Amino acid sequence: MKQIDVTEYLPIIMQELKKGILVNTKNGDKTNSMTIGWGQVGIEWGKMFFTTYIRHGRFTHEQIEATKEFTVSVPLERTPEIAKAIGYIGSKTGREIDKLTDMNLTLSDGKEVKSPAIKELPLTLECKVIYQQEQNIDNIPQEIKESCYPQDVPSDNPRANKDYHTVYYGEIVNAYILEESDFAGVGVNNGTVVNSANGNKSTKALWITLLSILLLLGIGSFAYNKMNKPQTYRTVVREEMSSVYSNTGLVNDSRIEKFTSNNPKILDKVAITEIRESFSENNSNKTKNVAITLKNKTDKPINDLEVVINVLDKKGNIIEDVDDEVKTLAPQSDYTFNLPIKNNKAINWELSEIKE
Ligand SMILES: Cc1cc2nc3c(=O)[nH]c(=O)nc-3n(C[C@H](O)[C@H](O)[C@H](O)COP(=O)(O)O)c2cc1C
Repeated sequence: MKQIDVTEYLPIIMQELKKGILVNTKNGDKTNSMTIGWGQVGIEWGKMFFTTYIRHGRFTHEQIEATKEFTVSVPLERTPEIAKAIGYIGSKTGREIDKLTDMNLTLSDGKEVKSPAIKELPLTLECKVIYQQEQNIDNIPQEIKESCYPQDVPSDNPRANKDYHTVYYGEIVNAYILEESDFAGVGVNNGTVVNSANGNKSTKALWITLLSILLLLGIGSFAYNKMNKPQTYRTVVREEMSSVYSNTGLVNDSRIEKFTSNNPKILDKVAITEIRESFSENNSNKTKNVAITLKNKTDKPINDLEVVINVLDKKGNIIEDVDDEVKTLAPQSDYTFNLPIKNNKAINWELSEIKE
């Protein structure tokens, strides 16, 4: 196990968070994980936190309420197996099943908390919840209420959009990367720096120095931005609607379900590997940006590949189509189709066609 300074790993944590990482919990004998796409590493009260946003209906919510702790697992390499596990863990609840065993993931005990670390997603943050807060619904802008909390999918569904989030501030009490040797034999983990009093002191001193530098850099860059950039453009990236699929298996998703269950021939050639959504506002023009990544599974190029989505209103009626195409998708390569939805009556969308 390699102890790490979290600040050195911020870029990788943030890059992977955008695609989905895991929050793990353990209450008594019940271990569970869920995928998250929202979160922050930050500083408050001189402490370093990982802040996570968990909707009320999640089983993870119950687990954290009971234990007030969690671990965060970040992959260092997103293999198809890891992408598949993250997709599965983000699309099923762990109330009745053991998602970690289903995905053949290897657990090791947390050191400062009971929640586990995961060998296959080795970058680990052990967190103790020392503060939590319910979202103040009245302060959430209307367009975010409509896009993130449309209230049409109930709490017991993993795709629930009804519930608001509890924000959990997990103080990072230990951070490390699991190594092969951690799983080689009994006693290997004994005597690591974090377990010794000296280690704790020097780690603390190092963190305080780094936090001060970070704070100064933050203030500097904020001031620089204020001076140099007109603040007319802002982008809010949504979490719930970004899903990661493995190259081989698709996880159920209402937005592509109708299309995939018809088994169109094109799916022999291409796999839907990722769906992401972001929400942007440029002055007063609002856009929901849908990005669908397809992979050419064959050894031949595919020409003039087009993706079409239907944009739906509140009642599920189609109000318009949006499409995007690529001239050539090379063998075994990915391409991300960009499908911006600008219609302000748009509530949802569904995949309508993938065609050559
Ligand atoms: C990429 C991705 C990101 C997600 N991010 C979050 C999140 O930040 N907060 C949340 O409450 N749910 C999020 N979810 C949904 C949960 O992972 C999902 O509902 C899961 O089944 C909950 O599991 P549990 O009931 O076992 O806790 C995300 C799902 C995916 C696929």
